[in-house]
Amino acid sequence: MKLEDLGFSESTYGEVILTVSLGDAVNSAPMGILLHGGCRLRLKVYRTGKTYELIVEGAEDCVLNVTSDPLLFYNAIFKKDELSYCPAELVSSPRIRGCDAYVECFIRGLTHHESYISVLLEPVLVEAPDRTVRVYSRVGPAIIEALISYTRLSSSKEPRERERLMRKIRIFREIVYHSSRNPAFREVADDVLRRSERMLASRNTSPDKKGYYVDV
Ligand SMILES: Cc1cc2nc3c(=O)[nH]c(=O)nc-3n(C[C@H](O)[C@H](O)[C@H](O)COP(=O)(O)O)c2cc1C
Repeated sequence: MKLEDLGFSESTYGEVILTVSLGDAVNSAPMGILLHGGCRLRLKVYRTGKTYELIVEGAEDCVLNVTSDPLLFYNAIFKKDELSYCPAELVSSPRIRGCDAYVECFIRGLTHHESYISVLLEPVLVEAPDRTVRVYSRVGPAIIEALISYTRLSSSKEPRERERLMRKIRIFREIVYHSSRNPAFREVADDVLRRSERMLASRNTSPDKKGYYVDV
């Protein structure tokens, strides 16, 4: 299976749980991954964490655990002891049990920046028993949440509630911009915000036949 088939892309971050090991130390944490130059991957690891420490101290490989289970993401930050591991096929870092797919990688290069390192990965094994599995992306949920807030604006008469919904729509647009450079996704996020602003500015909030709200 190719990395693109798993949903990895050069323009949109795929959110995985990255497991890295060095000697006896094993650590997992959620990380955003981009495709790089067709067949490599890259990520930014911020300076503060254990992942950063293990990589700069010489970890040679890692596993990208592909899952959309929010509890696994939660455990990977707050309850690391509850993650259960099994050996990988080709690298020394282990896999997290219960994920949908695994990408085993060698670490091929580090570039140091002020607050983070940029890490280049060479994938050596992609295993996805279910071929419909896709890496988690923040873009889809952010756009859908923005649409939910937009449709709620219509029924809300309360100015404070409308302001609250507008704030959420702006935040969801920011999430889309942070997690993707894809112009189609960014345009959709812009459009939801534009329509919401128009609806708020308009005194006429009756939906037209398509379910949109018309300007007067
Ligand atoms: C979905 C998600 C994506 C994340 N992406 C990154 C990332 O790309 N780089 C990074 O340094 N931290 C990222 N984080 C934050 C780290 O996972 C978090 O700081 C974690 O506690 C670091 O753990 P560690 O100290 O074990 O390395 C992300 C968090 C989440 C929930």
